[in-house]
Amino acid sequence: MRTIVQTLHGEAVRLSDSPLAQGGEAAVYEVPQYPSVVVKLYHPQVLDKRRNSLRAKIEAMCTDPALAGFKQHSRMTWPRFSVFDERKQWRGYAMKKAAGVRMTVLAHAMAYHEHFPDLDRPALLAYLLNLLSTMQELHAAGVRLGDYNPANFLCQPDGREVTLIDCDSWQVQAAGRTFHCPVAAPEMLPPELLGKDLARTHRTLESEQFSLAILIFKVLMLGRHPFDVVGGESPVANIRQGHFPYGIGGGGIPKGAWFNIWSHLPFRLKEQFVRTFRDGSRDPTERTTVPEWIQLLSLYQREITRGWHAAEIKPPAPKKSDYRGSQSAPQPLSA
Ligand SMILES: Nc1ncnc2c1ncn2[C@@H]1O[C@H](COP(=O)(O)OP(=O)(O)OP(=O)(O)O)[C@@H](O)[C@H]1O
Ligand SMILES: [Mg+2]
Repeated sequence: MRTIVQTLHGEAVRLSDSPLAQGGEAAVYEVPQYPSVVVKLYHPQVLDKRRNSLRAKIEAMCTDPALAGFKQHSRMTWPRFSVFDERKQWRGYAMKKAAGVRMTVLAHAMAYHEHFPDLDRPALLAYLLNLLSTMQELHAAGVRLGDYNPANFLCQPDGREVTLIDCDSWQVQAAGRTFHCPVAAPEMLPPELLGKDLARTHRTLESEQFSLAILIFKVLMLGRHPFDVVGGESPVANIRQGHFPYGIGGGGIPKGAWFNIWSHLPFRLKEQFVRTFRDGSRDPTERTTVPEWIQLLSLYQREITRGWHAAEIKPPAPKKSDYRGSQSAPQPLSA
C-alpha cells in the first residue's frame, strides 16, 4: 500500500511501502525523498481515542520556544512537524531517522557479543555517560522521560553515542500545559508510582532518579534487574518493599557472573545503588542525582584505565581484597 501524507502547508510526501518498524502505538515509515527523516503514524485505534490530545502534545513539543531547539539535537528524535492524511486528518509526525542497537542488547549476558564484539567496561560507561548528558539537558528543560525502556535508547556501535527514540511518550511542560507520560514498565518505576494511573500522574526528578538507577544497574550487570531476588518475590514486589539484595544486609547477591561484577564495582558506586534502592525507596530525597552519576561513572572509567578495577564485561573471578586491577603483584625485593 502506498501511503502519502501531507504537511500542514500541503506538501505531499510519499512514505515507504511498508513500515520500517512498529510499536504498540504507531508504525514508523521511511521517506524515500528525505532519507534522514522518518514519519510516525499512530495506529487508527490509538487515534480514535486520543487524536486530539496526541496532536496537542506533539504540536506543543514542536513549537514551544524552550523546547523546539531539541528538534535539531543529534541524539534525540524530537517531533519536527505534524503530518496529515489526504482528508486533512492529523495522523502523526516527522522526525529525524535514528540508527543504533537497542540498549537491551547491551544490557544482556550474551546478546552484546554480536553487535559490540569489543565491548568492555569503559565502553559501557561511555554509553551511559553519553545518555546521562542528554538526560541532563532534558531535565534542565523540565522534560521527564518517565518511560525508562532500554529499547528506546539506541547505542551506536561506533562512536559510543546513544540516540533517544519514542520522545512523544515523555512528560513535557509546553505551551503552558503539562503533558504526562502515560506509559512505563512497572519494574522500572519507583514505589510511589506503582499502581498509579500514569496518564494522570506527575513524574518528578526523584521518580526519574529511581528509574535511572535501575537502568544503570542493568547496563552494568548484564541486564539483571536490581530487585530480582533469587528464590524471592517479583522485582515489583521487592521495589514496593525496598528489598534490594546487594550490599551489606542485602541477603543475597546472585552467584556467578553477577557476584563477580558486583564485587569489582567501585565501593562508592555500590554505596549509591544501596542508598537509592533502600533509603531512596522510602525517601525520594535519598536518590542519586544525574550529576552525581556523571561524576561517579566518570571516576569509575578513569580508575579502570589506571588498572584499579576490572575492565572486562564479565570478570572471571570475584575481586580479591588486595586486587588492583590488571597490575601484576609487587615482586618481593629479594626476588
Ligand atoms: N526516529 C526513528 N528512527 C528510526 N527508527 C525509529 C525511530 N523511531 C522509532 N523507530 C523504530 O520504530 C519502532 C517503534 O517506534 P516507537 O517506539 O516510537 O513506537 P511506539 O508505538 O510509540 O512504541 P511503544 O508502544 O513502545 O510506545 C522502534 O522500536 C524503532 O525500531
Ligand atoms: Mg510510544
